[in-house]
Amino acid sequence: MATEETGGVELSEAQIAVHWREEEYYHPTNKVIAGANASDPAILERFAEENFPDCFREYAELLSWDQYWHTTLDTSHAPFWKWFVGGKLNASYNCVDRHLVDKANKAALIWVPEPLDEPTQAITYRELYRRVNEYAVMLRDFCGVKFGDRVTLHMPMVPELPAIMLACARLGAIHSEVFGGFSGTACGDRIADAGSKLLITIDGYYRAGQLIDHKVKADEAIEVAKKHGQTVERVMVFRRHQGRYLSETPMVDGRDFFVDDVMPQYRGQTVAPLSVPAETPLFLMYSSGTTGRPKGAQHCHGGYLAYAAGTTKFYLDVHPDDTYWCFADIGWITGHSYIVYGPLALGTTSVMYEGAPTWPDAARPWQIAERLGVNIFHTAPTTIRMLRKLGPDEPAKYDYHFKVMCTVGEPIEPEVWRWYYNSVGKKEASIADTWWLTETGGHIGATLPGLQPMKPGSCGPGALGIYPVLLDEDGNVVPRGSGVAGNICIRNPWPGTLQTVWGDDERFLSTYYRRYNRNPDSQDWHDWPFLCGDGAVESADGYFRILGRIDDVINVAGHRLGTKELESAALTVEEVAEAAAVPVRDELRGRVVELYVALKPGYSASKRIEDGVVEAIEREIGKVARPKNVWIVPDMPKTRSGKIMRRVITGISNFSDVGDTSTLANPEVVEEVRQQVQTAKRERGEVPVEAGEGS
Ligand code: WTA
Repeated sequence: MATEETGGVELSEAQIAVHWREEEYYHPTNKVIAGANASDPAILERFAEENFPDCFREYAELLSWDQYWHTTLDTSHAPFWKWFVGGKLNASYNCVDRHLVDKANKAALIWVPEPLDEPTQAITYRELYRRVNEYAVMLRDFCGVKFGDRVTLHMPMVPELPAIMLACARLGAIHSEVFGGFSGTACGDRIADAGSKLLITIDGYYRAGQLIDHKVKADEAIEVAKKHGQTVERVMVFRRHQGRYLSETPMVDGRDFFVDDVMPQYRGQTVAPLSVPAETPLFLMYSSGTTGRPKGAQHCHGGYLAYAAGTTKFYLDVHPDDTYWCFADIGWITGHSYIVYGPLALGTTSVMYEGAPTWPDAARPWQIAERLGVNIFHTAPTTIRMLRKLGPDEPAKYDYHFKVMCTVGEPIEPEVWRWYYNSVGKKEASIADTWWLTETGGHIGATLPGLQPMKPGSCGPGALGIYPVLLDEDGNVVPRGSGVAGNICIRNPWPGTLQTVWGDDERFLSTYYRRYNRNPDSQDWHDWPFLCGDGAVESADGYFRILGRIDDVINVAGHRLGTKELESAALTVEEVAEAAAVPVRDELRGRVVELYVALKPGYSASKRIEDGVVEAIEREIGKVARPKNVWIVPDMPKTRSGKIMRRVITGISNFSDVGDTSTLANPEVVEEVRQQVQTAKRERGEVPVEAGEGS
């Protein structure tokens, strides 16, 4: 699959994967089946290919439309698909207002702060309605936000975040939430790309027992945005504790305002949700891609919300009376679709937790689940691995019962899956291993919890109405059950798909469609397979095992980091001439990053330079991207055309096969670098268990 030109990281993924054995099925319990939204196999018929695209009416009909659509799918401007054309609605109305009739006093959100001595807050649909309206009035009247404006949010897991997102949606403004853990620089880049004049942030928040100063990042972000030519006129600052400012940084006169100072004047005011055409953009979510610049996936009010609601209903099996906890961050697409939009559209109770999974210890999640009566639990493999390592026996001590559990973001190892199933789920819950991407808006591969058996390590078949296919380099279909890896693509459009890359239609086309498009003028969707960017194998039963990214993206603990982003950050260090980022297998985080750097002539390796590289990455991207090791090497292994061979250094870092090095321009450095890196790793105790001596 990989070539020298693409760096070859992906080849090692596929090679490792083919050694995995087929796992046995696990079946849903009778209780799960009895309560499930999807337990009748007829649903599979309804979403079969012959019923496409009309099958997706079922999702759209979960929403309240001000005006019903006339065309389910318009392909005239392929591959810029339009769903539910002619329809009008508003996402904020669908997630809030319409529940006031029968659920006004029911909790929409339950927020659990990280500090143990702070009380949990239940925010009813009535209260959420009040907040969303007041914020919308503030955005409109105090900040001058209008239809179509982009509003950048840089917020952690506090309940103000979903409320402000919904307030933007109410006005037809486009929110762009940047993960709170990202640095000021990363936020500034995204502000500039989106062209936002308004930034919404908070002074601080709690994480792993620490109070983090967050406002300081806003000041950096604004500087960076300015360098890119984008001026931020106003910064609205929430205060984590009302009336008490936690940050060290001063408020800038005329630019920065405390939300809690401004809000009293808008008390009790409302603004009608703007009824917008289905294709109106709702939000941007930036993610990493092959080039250094992050790309803004654009999602809309109609198709996206319908898809989020439909998949929440069937794959997370959410009913209005469930207490559902998605332990992800709203700063990622998972939080958008499966903490905010999907669950609230269905009128359920969505739990939000501010802090770290293991604070103060690995029992915290199970305490929360027991106390709140959570019955659907959703998290990522990295969290599961950590909880398994630190508190394998903790779940059994708590009296909670899950019916469905979800895992998302990266492949889950069968061993870890089994602990999740046996210990966390107490053998009662179905696991939905949901495979999808920022760009897809919702699940595209998973099992239905009450209908389809589970297989550890496989996400399952394509989701309802999604028809995946594995294609090889030449566009031939890789036969099912062949054990051969291919590039997984979706053959058809679906309502949750990104509409485009914000401001860059060309990048949208080249990233997702050019590779396998059969005819650029075609208006027939069959000619436009969507390239997901993952390698996969398909078993004889049609279940997919996702192997990982085939592009230059490293998935660290479920966070997508572009190798180019990491490398450009390293190159900001004065002494660094060349940098290459590679993924290294890690017991807890799935993958971690290691950076190889070569210095400019005249400099020699030092701890100071290593630290400088780490700092640069934290500054440019954020702590999530912190490399595990920085290796200053005498030279990089290169092709004759001068490309750094990531495959070779990935092999060295992972103690695995480096592949053929005979075509390199400088094959002799491979051994030198291997000695240096592997000796150091042995000394640090970083040898993977499966790698024997001399491997
Ligand atoms: C990976 C997260 C295996 C995959 C929703 C994909 C997964 C990338 C799974 C997208 C899963 C996500 N099994 N791998 N269940 N879910 N991935 O955009 O490599 O942050 O391409 O979206 O995560 O990451 P993103």
